[in-house]
Amino acid sequence: MNERIKYLADKLHHSHTLDRSEFHELVSGRTEESAQYLYGLARDVREEIYGRDVYLRGLIEFTNYCKNDCLYCGIRRSNRSADRYRLTEKQILDCCQTGYQLGFRTFVLQGGEDPFYTDERLCSIVREIKKLYPDCAVTLSVGERSRESYARLREAGADRYLLRHETADAGHFAKIHPGELSLEQRIRCLRDLKELGYQVGCGFMVGSPYQTIDSIVADLEFIKEFQPHMVGIGPFIPHHSTPFAKEPAGSLELTLYLLAIVRLMLPDVLLPATTALGTIHPRGRELGLLAGANVVMPNLSPTEVRSKYLLYDNKICTGDEAAECRRCLERRVESVGYKIVVSRGDWREK
Ligand code: 5AD
Ligand code: FES
Repeated sequence: MNERIKYLADKLHHSHTLDRSEFHELVSGRTEESAQYLYGLARDVREEIYGRDVYLRGLIEFTNYCKNDCLYCGIRRSNRSADRYRLTEKQILDCCQTGYQLGFRTFVLQGGEDPFYTDERLCSIVREIKKLYPDCAVTLSVGERSRESYARLREAGADRYLLRHETADAGHFAKIHPGELSLEQRIRCLRDLKELGYQVGCGFMVGSPYQTIDSIVADLEFIKEFQPHMVGIGPFIPHHSTPFAKEPAGSLELTLYLLAIVRLMLPDVLLPATTALGTIHPRGRELGLLAGANVVMPNLSPTEVRSKYLLYDNKICTGDEAAECRRCLERRVESVGYKIVVSRGDWREK
């Protein structure tokens, strides 16, 4: 094995950080052998803290309307061919009921940035879920909002918030987003969320157009500095009606490698094996668990709308019922020696 890469992996394992040039070397100098070594370290760390437990999050994709126009995303506003939908409060609560019976204790409300969901409407949904399921956590993933809005939603009972930073390299951010969005603003949102007492998740895509090793290193440095409770990492996958339709997808192998690095940097982080990872490889999520991930987020959205929430092409599970995904994941998780637990799965300080 490349001794230098092994040394850097061990150093990261013990000190939980590296300097910029070392991160660069660790990423660019990776080999199949050193990757396997890194995954082993990441698994050890994950098992010290979370044992063999895997946490479940039920994803409810409640609107695919979006006022933004991110160049990579299939539900961007310029995609006129997207068939738009919104779920009613009643439909969302029905998803939670199904989910609760299947053992879900976290509901993730995810949607595009849809102005229809004012603070009033969204707070009412959050309050209702918390009233009916007081033993469950509610996670929001609805993009950039004002600090006041985040504060109201927190007061209504939201526990966690997912907002990927997408890339911590401002130049790269500008190449994959429309001019109205900025990295600065995204980071402002993340800091507000943390100050308001949410468990916060940031994250990025692997292999998005124009991404370089330097941008990945910037992501790692940002994550180290921000200290999120959760990190969402998945491969970029092209969507046929976006400007990036002809761009290649991100690689399985680099995504797994970065999952392992993040586990070593933040030993107690909640790290999902994402749907995008399951889309680029039939056993992508299982491999993610074996590289240090400890969360899975199956879809709880009603089957009728699943094929409309398409951020990228070939998304898995669009034809399945919630119960099928639950059973399918149970088997997949067990096939790699882990076990799904019925728990809120809160962040645990080491
Ligand atoms: N490929 C992979 N991931 C994508 N996302 C959006 N579009 C794509 C795509 N084409 C990710 C973004 C976003 C999350 C909800 O989905 O990182 O934050
Ligand atoms: Fe949905 Fe496997 S997780 S069918």
